[in-house]
Amino acid sequence: MKSIVTVLVCVALAACDIAGSSKQAEPVDDRRLSQAQAEPANWMTHGGTYREQRYNQLDLINTESVENLGLKWFYQFEDRRGLEATPLVIDGVIYTTSAWSRVHAFDATTGEPLWHYDPEIAGEVAFKACCDVVNRGPAFYQGKVYVGALDGRLIAVDAKTGKEVWSTVTVDQAKSYTITGAPRVIKGKVLIGNSGGEYGVRGYVSAYDAETGDLVWRFYTVPPIHGAEPDGAASDSMIAAAQATWAGDWSELGGGGTVWDAIVYDEDFDQVLVGVGNGSPWPRSLRSEGQGDNLFISSVLALDPDTGKYKWHYQGTPGEEWDFTQTQPIILATLEIDKQPRKVMMQAPKNGFFYVIDRSNGKLISAENYVPQNWTTGIDLETGRPKMAPDARYSGDELFVALPSGHGGHNWQPMAYHPDTGLVYIPAQEIALAYQLNQPFEVRVGGWNLGVDLAVNEIPDDQEQIDAIRSQLKGFLIAWDPIKQKEAWRVDHLGPWNGGVLATAGGLVFQGNASGYLQAFDASTGRKVWSFDTKVGIIAPPITYAVDGVQYIALMAGYGGGYGLAAPFTENAGFRPNGRLMVFALNEELDYDVVKPELAPAVVVNKVWEKAGRDNGAQIYETTCGLCHGATARSSGIVPDLRRSPILASAEAWQAVVHDGVLKDRGMIGFSAYLSPEDIEDVRGYVAERALQLHKHGN
Ligand code: HEC
Repeated sequence: MKSIVTVLVCVALAACDIAGSSKQAEPVDDRRLSQAQAEPANWMTHGGTYREQRYNQLDLINTESVENLGLKWFYQFEDRRGLEATPLVIDGVIYTTSAWSRVHAFDATTGEPLWHYDPEIAGEVAFKACCDVVNRGPAFYQGKVYVGALDGRLIAVDAKTGKEVWSTVTVDQAKSYTITGAPRVIKGKVLIGNSGGEYGVRGYVSAYDAETGDLVWRFYTVPPIHGAEPDGAASDSMIAAAQATWAGDWSELGGGGTVWDAIVYDEDFDQVLVGVGNGSPWPRSLRSEGQGDNLFISSVLALDPDTGKYKWHYQGTPGEEWDFTQTQPIILATLEIDKQPRKVMMQAPKNGFFYVIDRSNGKLISAENYVPQNWTTGIDLETGRPKMAPDARYSGDELFVALPSGHGGHNWQPMAYHPDTGLVYIPAQEIALAYQLNQPFEVRVGGWNLGVDLAVNEIPDDQEQIDAIRSQLKGFLIAWDPIKQKEAWRVDHLGPWNGGVLATAGGLVFQGNASGYLQAFDASTGRKVWSFDTKVGIIAPPITYAVDGVQYIALMAGYGGGYGLAAPFTENAGFRPNGRLMVFALNEELDYDVVKPELAPAVVVNKVWEKAGRDNGAQIYETTCGLCHGATARSSGIVPDLRRSPILASAEAWQAVVHDGVLKDRGMIGFSAYLSPEDIEDVRGYVAERALQLHKHGN
């Protein structure tokens, strides 16, 4: 099953800097980035190398020695918000990003902080972020560290001093754009996309000069509406072709197609592969008169890295309407398929299918579902198109319960590919969601504009029913054979929303889970060979590096992100400690514990609300507050559980926070622009009802 890649790399190994000797560091330039696999002591790009396999050739930590792996040092960040970053390690320094787009540099051996850079994101920006104030990591090039900031800035920081070198606003900040993705540096340009598809924006990817921060090119993933002026962008040449797949006027909510994660440089064909997000609003009937494929949403786009010009695309979910983004991480490899070496890209996007695509032309080679799915009856390999299940396109009053759902069969948590086992390790999950049109649909300025009524997914109060729902929420590490398109083995986690993956030449696969355990598995069999309880939920992927002959495993431990923030039934719900960067090495055993405080009791409010008021409050809560404070007022523990908040007891204090925004700098905006004081008091009535339920029935 060995692939061609392994053979090539092993030849190059003779020249490998395995030990991470502290020789005079050369600048990180295109040559060094291109040769990254020959420097396993460093982790220089988001996915480890340009190919983003998240496979590293260090093997001091291996199936034998891993039992002696222990905590060497950790650094605790200042808040509890989610940590999704892949740290970078360059010549003995570890660079990472934490919540609110903060950048940090540490001595990779000792953990001594070298500098911190805070872009000082305004707390209100949190309201524009669908999925927590997370950041998936920095990029490094020629002595600068690059970060995409939550408020839409792209910032270059001096790697030695942590001082800002340049900062460019990449979005219209009046709109609900945010950035959570990691920039990539390709041939002297920094590439960055953005998020905001749930709010109503138009997606694009841009390239900026790495030295100056000047815009070089931009590609819009969604065309301007019929009859509108072209954008004067690299995407202009594709406007006519893309427009032919759209109907009506999609400009108010932008059409979606945000480029919020995968941006991968394919050196073999000198092209950049860009993963494109879901449509906005979600239902095609509200977006495009129910017609058309809506290019280039839910696609992979191949672009020329110098000019941004279109080369090819593959659309996994034509006419997408389930939040099936195709932004999920992309891995490049050469696989032997039918005795031919094929240069392929592999991706397991939200829609549940594992795609192997020919990088020379974008043609689909194979696709099989890696989790159960009910929106198709399979993929037609001739056309590359899904065969739609008859009821999948919800319309009118009809409801469709989709599996997988917008949470993804696999989300942004990076998968890894091990060239020796030939397996791809996918952090997979099963979370169903019911979709029903929101009728009548009214656009809410600044807020979520899904066009779907998620309230149909109501959570019951009855404990048995809650347990039944919980048992349907599943998470796995799936080892997938991309050639046979078949599962090799799987590890069952307690629930969904676990961490990203690292594969190493030590025959290991590392993954953290929602319960806080960082674990190592035998890459061939899935046998668990090591586990460490971080006592913090894990969603980020670990990395490995070496300094002076010692191999390390590093991980950002910190729960959150979209599902982690809003879903009430996650492991350890109720209390989440601050996030931390944790570094492990052989024969280390740092004392480590996290003390869990008692949860505050439910607040019983001395007032009775009319049913109409509570119902209005419920409607507002579930569409406006629940995505941070948790569905049905049950918090996952990252932002306050309002049922236990002393603020709930006082109408005045409640108005001061929710209406006037006294906590706005801390990520809790004031809602005076959106809600009246009466509405806000109704929300209090609903939360008080939920608190009474907690007080009486404990849930
Ligand atoms: C974008 C995420 C987000 C949304 C949406 C949001 N909140 Fe908050 N809220 C927060 C955060 C973060 C805090 C904690 C701020 C701090 O650290 O003091 C908070 C704090 C609060 C508090 C104070 C709790 C305490 O014990 O200190 C109240 C009350 C509150 N929110 C009510 C609401 C209501 C009602 C809504 C909907 C109208 C809402 N929030 C929507 C993020 C959010």
